[in-house]
Amino acid sequence: MSRKAPFPDPHAPRLRVRPPANWINDPNGPFRWRGRYHLFYQHNPAAPVHANVHWGHVSSPDLVRWDHHPIALTPTPGGPDEAGCWSGCVVDDDGVPTAVYTGIDRQHTGVGTICLARAVPDDDALTVWRPVPEPVVTAPPAGLHVAMFRDPFVFRHGGRRWALVGAGHADGTPSVLLYDCDDLLSWRFAGVLLDGRDPRAAEALGKDATGWECPQLFETSDGHWVLVLSLWDGEPLSTGHLTGTLTAAGPDDPTPRFTPRSGGPLDHGRDFYAPAVLQDRAGGRVLLWGWSWEARSQDEVERAGWAGVLTAPRVVDIRADGALSTVPAPELERLRARPLPSQLPDAYELFITATAPATVGLLRSAAGERVTLALDPAAGTVTLDRSGWPRQRAGGSGPLTLAAGPGAAPGGLTVRVLADGSLLELFAGDAAVATERVYRRAGDVPELTTRGTGVQVTGWELSGWEPDPPRHG
Ligand code: FRU
Repeated sequence: MSRKAPFPDPHAPRLRVRPPANWINDPNGPFRWRGRYHLFYQHNPAAPVHANVHWGHVSSPDLVRWDHHPIALTPTPGGPDEAGCWSGCVVDDDGVPTAVYTGIDRQHTGVGTICLARAVPDDDALTVWRPVPEPVVTAPPAGLHVAMFRDPFVFRHGGRRWALVGAGHADGTPSVLLYDCDDLLSWRFAGVLLDGRDPRAAEALGKDATGWECPQLFETSDGHWVLVLSLWDGEPLSTGHLTGTLTAAGPDDPTPRFTPRSGGPLDHGRDFYAPAVLQDRAGGRVLLWGWSWEARSQDEVERAGWAGVLTAPRVVDIRADGALSTVPAPELERLRARPLPSQLPDAYELFITATAPATVGLLRSAAGERVTLALDPAAGTVTLDRSGWPRQRAGGSGPLTLAAGPGAAPGGLTVRVLADGSLLELFAGDAAVATERVYRRAGDVPELTTRGTGVQVTGWELSGWEPDPPRHG
């Protein structure tokens, strides 16, 4: 059972989306409806552990202030989702907001079914959802030896509706399966969109994954397509992206074919996974949120009473040089409350610009260790060193180097830091982003220090939205 979190909890993010208590993992179904952004998430309302997964729900008029809503999806006893309402998306099905999600039944394998739930008519706040009793896909396609199957993602191409499903095969090959679901109640398997044997995919994403979770696909402002994948080998590993083209298979065959051109990691940090995208066609941009898990021991998590947080919303696009760009959503500037005080507060934003090598300290321990960012403008790199604050997860705590790319040049190299409690998001220019969790210890001093000439730091203490009290109903 969870215990009450101490207040104030210095590790708890205040400005990012997370439930009032207990567990959160993947963001699900970001969706714009009647002037608001809705965001759902994997949630165990009863304990800070990954079990008994529901869909939590928040909404916002501006991506800054979020209201908590009652739980949207709850496992139905005896139903296809009785052991969990796992990840999925939300689509506008002819005016009816519809959640398309993974049902996990009592056998609790990683092979899910695809289920629907409809928002009730005239409930603009999307607070009441009715499950469709039967899954629309009851099993993976036959003959492909699918051992992992989940996380439907619906998109439009060529005037029709299609869906991706994350998969892993018995021989250890990860893949993305494609379905024709123009009629959301009648799904047809339309082939393997991509698998891990594709040379470009193997080169960009490595060969460790045996399953690809949470596939997401979006079109950029200049007509490129980006496939986002969460790499899994029985445990979450990291995230990746592939850029390429999406074309119809032929003049009489609208089946989309994805041809990857290049790719790489999506987020270079060690505490980021399962991102979800919102192709906001009305807003002319693509928004992305990820899940940042806890990188501390389960004992500490139990004492805190909460686990996990979503990142800040990010705008993703393709740059002129073909690389992915990621920046915080501009709306976040509204959280800037006042210039930084002499010590760094719990939530802050920094811009660090260096024209010569420089090191900026963010935290000092009583023993003299520091969390630092080392900027090397000539090399176009920024290195995070947080090794004095070990992570309790795979991936270690060693230094992490981000390449801001050649675009970094003339005015110097700029790094933007968004810190909120233990959540640290670093943006090296627009070319590389890293999400990590750093937990302050008693006696740590959050002092901002700079070493080097030609370094400029500006920043703000952030404040604004704070989570409401729990409202589970
Ligand atoms: C990714 C994931 C998804 C699954 C969900 C379960 O973190 O494993 O594949 O649907 O979480 O909570």
